[in-house]
Amino acid sequence: MARILSGMRPTGRLHLGNYTGALENWVRLQASHDSYHMVADWHALTTGYEDTALLREDTREMVTDWIAAGIDPVKSPVFIQSHIREHAELHLLFSMVVTKARLERNPALKEQLRDLGLDENVTYGHLGYPVLQAADILMYKANAVPVGEDQVPHVELTREIARRFNALYGPIFPEPEALLTKFARLVGLDGNRMSKSLGNTILISDPPEAIQAKVKTAYTDPKKIRKNDPGHPEGCVVFAYHGKFNEAEVAQIEPDCRSGAIGCVDCKKNLATKLADSLAPLRERRAQILAQDGFVESALADGERRARAVAEQTMSEVRDAVRLP
Ligand code: TRP
Ligand code: SF4
Repeated sequence: MARILSGMRPTGRLHLGNYTGALENWVRLQASHDSYHMVADWHALTTGYEDTALLREDTREMVTDWIAAGIDPVKSPVFIQSHIREHAELHLLFSMVVTKARLERNPALKEQLRDLGLDENVTYGHLGYPVLQAADILMYKANAVPVGEDQVPHVELTREIARRFNALYGPIFPEPEALLTKFARLVGLDGNRMSKSLGNTILISDPPEAIQAKVKTAYTDPKKIRKNDPGHPEGCVVFAYHGKFNEAEVAQIEPDCRSGAIGCVDCKKNLATKLADSLAPLRERRAQILAQDGFVESALADGERRARAVAEQTMSEVRDAVRLP
């Protein structure tokens, strides 16, 4: 079975964008791949090193959501990056063979620095985080990495590092492929990118009442004011969500919106119900997990043990290949 390494920064409870853009795919891939799932807590420090107060709580909440969404920690190890110190060692060795110019050319990093207004103030760790990501992936000799479009340059760098390292020291690492997540990015309730910091999310753990209240505020066609006004579903957030969570009815909603046969209030109520129904199994599993004392902790401890076994093996091959005394 081909192996996958997936990573996500600890951001606390996950939203629908995290789910449709990554987690749902991870859950599916478990059936066909030997999957490892990593909490990228060191990665979180690359941009969040000044405020670490929530790292532990956010990790716990996120892993709870992973398992609630269907990640099976018995089948697929779940672990915390910083608990496997070998990642730091491999990152250091990789950092010897990557030039600063190569890192500065990374379009994903450039975009992130622009977004954060950090162009001139990038830290050493932040500039090198794609190298850390390469270490995460290659430590497990992963053949594939499920990522969104934005992370493809990091997988390309990972492949280059594997090639370079193998050429210098011997054939240790495979060249992993990016497994692109198919579903287009889900927009936030206001039509911007869905993000916690923008306050426009629906959480996968939100109860039905919260979903109803949030969907009420969603951006719709501003020209459709009265129920029977003709609407334009393109650009309507509610319509985009119907496309994902109400596949059975979306084909009918489109003409009904255009002709004015349905109004936004009903359309939103309908969506909120479908959303709450789709998320019900996740919410139930979440409640079951939380009812079992120490469930998440022991899943993480078990994952750590299994991840460490692989990491120790890889690092012993690496140290030999490099001929470290
Ligand atoms: N860099 C990824 C992000 O910011 C998280 C990540 C860290 C990751 N290590 C990884 C993703 C390894 C895939 C594989 O979202
Ligand atoms: Fe959007 Fe539905 Fe209103 Fe049409 S009827 S604009 S799809 S909310």
